[in-house]
This record gives sequence, structure tokens and C-alpha cells, in this order.
Amino acid sequence: MSKLRINGGRPLDGAAQISGAKNSALPIMCAALLSARPLTLGNVPHLMDVATMSKLLTQMGLGAERAANGDMILDGARIVDPVAPYELVRTMRASILVLGPLLARCGRAKVSLPGGCAIGQRPVDQHLKGLTAMGASISVEHGYIHAHADRLRGTRIVMDVVTVTGTENLMMAAALAQGKTILENAAREPEVTDLARCLIAMGARIEGAGSDVIRIEGVPELGGARHSVMPDRIETGTYLAAAAATGGRVRLTGVDCDTLDATLDKLRESGARVERGSDWVSLEMNGRPRAVSLRTAPYPAFATDMQAQFMALDTVADGTGIITETIFENRFMHALELQRLGADITIQGNTAIVKGVERLQGAAVMATDLRASASLVIAGLVAEGQTVIDRIYHLDRGYESLERKLAGLGAKIDRLP
Ligand code: EPU
Repeated sequence: MSKLRINGGRPLDGAAQISGAKNSALPIMCAALLSARPLTLGNVPHLMDVATMSKLLTQMGLGAERAANGDMILDGARIVDPVAPYELVRTMRASILVLGPLLARCGRAKVSLPGGCAIGQRPVDQHLKGLTAMGASISVEHGYIHAHADRLRGTRIVMDVVTVTGTENLMMAAALAQGKTILENAAREPEVTDLARCLIAMGARIEGAGSDVIRIEGVPELGGARHSVMPDRIETGTYLAAAAATGGRVRLTGVDCDTLDATLDKLRESGARVERGSDWVSLEMNGRPRAVSLRTAPYPAFATDMQAQFMALDTVADGTGIITETIFENRFMHALELQRLGADITIQGNTAIVKGVERLQGAAVMATDLRASASLVIAGLVAEGQTVIDRIYHLDRGYESLERKLAGLGAKIDRLP
């Protein structure tokens, strides 16, 4: 299993290009299941999760290939086996996103229950509740969701919790349902809006994506389309937080600043000078950051996917930051690893109290999930001496060319076999 070795203690300085968003690419790839015509996607990042999703889709009979210009072409002319097996779903929870499209297009689907994961329980009851309300009959047997429906019917669905993939699954199912679906208490994340843009390009009739009420008028079939995946706002925020924590400066291109408000506000609060343009953002931090307090919540509030990176920032900040996690019940595992580097963190329930220390010291640490790994990389960049991060396959799931991009920003980082 490979590891990352970082020799930290120097500010980041340079420029990097941001990749397409993982959490937008994955649902949009599943949208190819809805149409017999090809879907051509630009800006799809090269990530382990994207490879896993390709594998899942091709197992079902879809064509998936990369063109010479980097575009991904997904061909849903044939679906031979509407099944998502446990072996793939267990490595990537986003596999649940095939359920709505398969049911809408094929009238049946068999998808492994994702089960719990490191950051929390993560049930899928809202996905199932919505599909049932649309007329699907669903049973769970031997760890698999079995779903059937001759043709889904549009209806009004009020979701009990704000769920990103739940909203995406139901929006895709509703695109081919008979009649009108109204999704209330829908997730407003930009990735939901990006998926809606792609579905609309395929011929879907969707209004209100980006707000908490989405209206979908089902159509009998969808066509092909070309769509470019939105920039990754979490990758963007991760490099900005890394620059701020190290007292450095970066300029990131290929970004969408309109999706970054909560993150940029907190970075400014930490003392960083942030400038933004139509597709770039730059940050400069002089000296030590000030501690920031934050509370995660659904978009447009501060993203849970940025919480760990800001905890890393707070570990070396001037003052004490109070971080409250409201989305996932077990998303502080990085705190223990950060303590190995010398951080002063106290956990009380879903709140972490982070007292900034003057410096961290390099040590061996273990990555536990994707964003926790990112926080350890940031801490490793700040820490004096050598940090070795084990289990970095988590990082490969969600950060394209991490070492290359960080090396381009002046970091001393390499991968140990
Ligand atoms: N929830 C339920 N029932 C459901 C669905 C969700 O109770 O049926 C709860 C969850 O347990 C959680 C909350 O609702 O407490 C929100 O979960 P959500 O469904 O929004 O999460 P998700 O759709 O499974 C996506 C991202 C995550 C990100 C969350 C929150 C993708 C593929 N994944 O997950 O990304 O943390 O939204 O923004 O879009 C990551 O990229 O590292 C990552 C974990």
C-alpha cells in the first residue's frame, strides 16, 4: 500500500489548475443510464472513484471510453444487467446513484445496500421513500435493494433530511417518470445544479435546481448531449486552506468562485487576502492564520467536505477555533491523527475545540477517509520535518494528481511504494 512522504515547514507558493468535480462527475455519469443516445462529458477528473463508476456502468452493458481530447463518452444504447454488486458499492457509496436511473429506464434494479462507512451511518431511506412514492415496489433482501416499477409516476415528495445523492437519484428518476414530480426540501448543492444542467441538455424538463424545491416534468425519453463537469469546489478549497495554513500564496485556475462563498469567507476571517476573477482565485497569507470557528450545514452554508481541512488550519492558528459538525456523526477521525503531529484538539460530542499551537512536528499518520486525508496532507505541509501518511488510497479516490499539483506549488512531497 503506497504512502505519501512530506517534508513540511515551507509555505506553498505557485499556481495550479483545478480539476472537474468528483461529486458532480459521478452522478452525471449515472445520467447516461437514462438515455439510449451517447453522453459526452468534458472535464471528468482522473480519479479512482470515476474508474470505479466506469467499471460499474460497463458491467451493466454501457460503453465508456475516453476520447483523445480527454472527453468521456458514455453510450447507454444497451443495458444488459441492471445490477450494482456489493463488491463495487462497498468501495464507493455513490454507486447508489444508479438506482433511480435504472428503475426509470429499465423498470427494475438490484443495487447492493451501501452499509455504514467511516464517517457515519449514511442510510439511504430517503432515496427509497421517494422512489416508493413514485410507485416503485422496493424490498431489501440479502443486503440488496430490489426495485421494480412499470413506469414511475410523478408525485410530490417532501424529503425528511437534506440529502445530496438522494435529491440527485430522485431527480434522475423523475426525468423519465410519467407526469410532474415536485421535490421539496431538496439539496441546493452546486453539484445538484450541474446534474440538472446535464439532464436538461439531454432533454429533461427541470426547474428550480439550486433551490429547495425542484420541479420535474417527466418525458418519455432523453437524448444524447455534451456537458462539461463543473470545477471541484472542495479541491479548490483544499488548496486554498493549504496555502493559508502554510502562510503561502497560490493562484488557482479553472475554478468557479460562485460556489465558494462560505469557504472564502472563512479564509478571509483567518486573515488571508483573497482575490477572485471569473475562473480564478488567489490567496495570500502573511504569517500565522487566525483561528476560525465554523459549523457545517447543507449548501450554501459551510461544507462538511471542508471541515477537516479547516481543522488542520486551526491547529496552527493564533487562538482557538470551535468546529461543529452537523452532517455526519463520526467525521472527526482526523483529530486523533492531527494530535500525533502535536495539535491540541478536544472533542465534545459533535464539536471540536482546536487550540492553535506555534508549530506541528512531522510524524507517521494514517488516513481514514478522503477529506480526513486532505487535512493530514495540509498538516504535513505545515509540520516541521517529515510526515508519512499511510492509506492514501483515500486521496486517490478524490484528488487528481495531488502530489504533482502540490509539487508545482513548491511542496516537498513524494509517494513511497
Ligand atoms: N441521510 C439520511 N437518509 C438518506 C440520505 C442521507 O438520513 O436517505 C443523512 C446522512 O446520514 C447525512 C445527511 O443525511 O447525515 C446528509 O447526507 P447526504 O445524503 O447529503 O450525503 P451523500 O449524498 O451520501 C454527498 C457527497 C459527500 C458529502 C455529502 C454532504 C457525493 C457522491 N457525496 O454524500 O461527499 O459529504 O453529500 O455534502 O456527492 C466526499 O466527497 O468526501 C463526500 C463524502
